[in-house]
Amino acid sequence: MSGSSPRGRPSPDSRSERILPHAAAISAEALHSIAEQVGTPAYVYDARAIDAGIGRWIDAVGDPACISYAAKANTNLAVLARLERFGVGIEVATPGELARARKAGFPLRRIVFGGVPKPADAVRDGMRLGVGMIVLQSAHEVDAALAYGSESTNGPVNVGLRVRPGIRAGAHPSLETGRTDAKFGFAPDQIPEIWQRLSADPNLVPRTLAFHLGSGLDSVEPYEQALDLLLSLTRVLDGHGAPVRELDVGGGLGVDYASWADPEPRDLVRNLTERLAGIGAELRFEPGRSVVARAGLLLTRVLYLRHRRDYPAVVCDAGQTDFARHALYGAQHAIVPVDGELSGDPTVEVLGPTCESGDVLGTRRRLHGTQPGDLLQLCDAGAYGFVMASNYNSRPRPPEVLVDGSSWQVVRPRESLEDLWRGEEIP
Ligand SMILES: Cc1ncc(COP(=O)(O)O)c(C=O)c1O
Repeated sequence: MSGSSPRGRPSPDSRSERILPHAAAISAEALHSIAEQVGTPAYVYDARAIDAGIGRWIDAVGDPACISYAAKANTNLAVLARLERFGVGIEVATPGELARARKAGFPLRRIVFGGVPKPADAVRDGMRLGVGMIVLQSAHEVDAALAYGSESTNGPVNVGLRVRPGIRAGAHPSLETGRTDAKFGFAPDQIPEIWQRLSADPNLVPRTLAFHLGSGLDSVEPYEQALDLLLSLTRVLDGHGAPVRELDVGGGLGVDYASWADPEPRDLVRNLTERLAGIGAELRFEPGRSVVARAGLLLTRVLYLRHRRDYPAVVCDAGQTDFARHALYGAQHAIVPVDGELSGDPTVEVLGPTCESGDVLGTRRRLHGTQPGDLLQLCDAGAYGFVMASNYNSRPRPPEVLVDGSSWQVVRPRESLEDLWRGEEIP
């Protein structure tokens, strides 16, 4: 295949060969045997890269209990159980994630029920269960917590409030969550009154102020600004109800999908810790993407080539139903052949098989030598990959495989056709 060279933008596959220690390093031989025995498309995770991903957070923070891995990035039980062994906590956004965290072995005290919109019964159930902390982010969640507090005999529950700092953090608009117009959290001036009401309830222990600025951030500056806001709120709250014990700075640290230049947790932790001088509160971090993104890949087989004038393309058996990040955010992950080299100009589109023109895995690729039947790996797909897969077009969701050194295991099988209509009835 050939095509003309696009102008300006670098190809996402043009990153240098220096591979990060926390990135998946799975041999071509293993990928071939997975493709033969499990089929494609398939998510493949490198257990040791998961260890390294959480390890660099623990090195940076010190106490693993101050890290709450954001389950939403990858909720496979094998991945969660692997992370649990490090003694870290977990941040869950829904009753479903909460159930998964427990199933994977996280003790309740290490579970933060996070500050995303929750129905009142989810707030009540989480508190009744006795999670380590619940972060409230809207008036109806505060009401639900107070209603629980007034009737509970279970003992006090730790509570946090999510603040909307009004900061543009530089992420994709769909992934920015701390702006003034975001749907999450309370404006800073609402916090003192709510804090006091919560403090008056003997069954509630307000101890945490939280924010989450967005996902995919490449700089620590927005965190610094937002933390300064929490610090000034902490001073305002001093003497007005329970003391603020913890400042939860959320997740969001990005992965540079086009290079290996990831922002480092240690820089974030150092910069934020310096600002805490004289304040008797601890920091909490909720990283998701930066822990697991590099540890996974999506293995796909080329179905056929498409020779359109100026738009050469390879059509693969994986598509937007398996991996939604390009369709949703225009994300450009490296896509490389399992065998052989990248070749030619960066002009090839990598397309999926579903019925939409937007079913694209990547654009501007140097994949001119690719042939039908070749295996490709879509890199750095360990976060927000499988968890965002769907059954659109009645496509069974792909399997997940965990590689540990020289051995591998299917940790979730490919869905069957029967799985597609499980629970449905024809009246
Ligand atoms: C409250 C909260 N914490 C943590 C995260 C994890 O973010 P990331 O995966 O970018 O680290 C998210 C992601 O949406 C979130 O909403």
